[in-house]
Amino acid sequence: MGFVKITGTGSYTPDRILSNQDFEKMVDTSDEWIRTRTGIVERRIAEPQVASSDMAYEAALKALESASIDPADVDGIILGTVTPDYIFPATSCFVQSRLGAKNAFAFDLLAGCSGFIYALQVGKSMIEAGNAENILVIGAETLSRITDYKDRSTCILFGDGAGAAVLSKSEKSGILSIFLGANGDDWEKIILPAGGSRTPASEETVQNGLHYLKMKGNDVFKEGVKGLEFASLEAIRKADITTAQVDLFIPHQANYRIMDAVRRRLNLSPEKLFVNVDKYGNTSSASVPIALDEAVKSGRIQEDDLILFAVIGSGFTFASAVIKW
Ligand code: ACO
Repeated sequence: MGFVKITGTGSYTPDRILSNQDFEKMVDTSDEWIRTRTGIVERRIAEPQVASSDMAYEAALKALESASIDPADVDGIILGTVTPDYIFPATSCFVQSRLGAKNAFAFDLLAGCSGFIYALQVGKSMIEAGNAENILVIGAETLSRITDYKDRSTCILFGDGAGAAVLSKSEKSGILSIFLGANGDDWEKIILPAGGSRTPASEETVQNGLHYLKMKGNDVFKEGVKGLEFASLEAIRKADITTAQVDLFIPHQANYRIMDAVRRRLNLSPEKLFVNVDKYGNTSSASVPIALDEAVKSGRIQEDDLILFAVIGSGFTFASAVIKW
């Protein structure tokens, strides 16, 4: 049957930088606290007129260029996001229109930070089933729009950006395994409380700040380490490789301490861990595809390398994958 392969990658992050020093002027925090607790130094923030689809479009354009694929040859666009332009229409439809991908279906997928890997699985399965040849998979977030810049326990963590990948058939190598999971029991640990059908927008929800992301950081930290280790081992097992064979580990860029703890649990050497959380903070579903694009463009990934991805996101959702490049 062959493989489904990532044939091109692209990413986009806004120019505007919000540094730890900027936060020292906004909330009771310090550069030292943020660096040592999270590994984050700065994050990118979209200009007010920019929405998730704008960044998704830029990332998608670069991914198509690097895959040498014409927009007309894209059969589908699957976009993971927790910060769509609107609840509907789907953010992916704006991308489809701007790209002129006139033969593509388009839909969004909501799986918290795991959105990109979930989308990868859906795209891969559709290509394997013969329903599509080229699928654009995107993660795009404007988390600054749902961040409470008065809450020091969350505001220092998040940033904006988008990453994209083109999926196509391949004879030689490609995605070896994907593992997806969920634990809805812990739904309240990371949540955007208002604006949905449970708690629609009202004067009261606005007054109470319920349109901002809420997170029980310490619980998420512990769940993050356990969940990322579990998901990593599942993808490794399904790919029928050993942990020692992994050439590069690209975990969700949420917190350096979480990533490094998982790396140690997996017994991987520090050089095998890809880190860019220092530059972008947590960009949710955009985190893995931005990291992948940077790893490819900076030469950290060579042909035949085995890449391990692992993500945990709100839900909770878990997702991981092993790819032979
Ligand atoms: N500056 C200074 N002090 C702070 C700050 C801050 N920015 N934020 C919290 N504190 C204080 C707290 O108020 C608390 O003070 P107290 O002891 O007087 O009550 C103290 O620091 C310790 O707070 P904790 O929450 O226990 O700190 P912790 O070491 O857990 O670090 C952090 C907090 C960084 C949020 C951590 O829990 C974390 O990274 N969690 C995981 C977050 C994450 O990865 N989320 C995303 C995963 S899923 C997704 O991407 C949506």
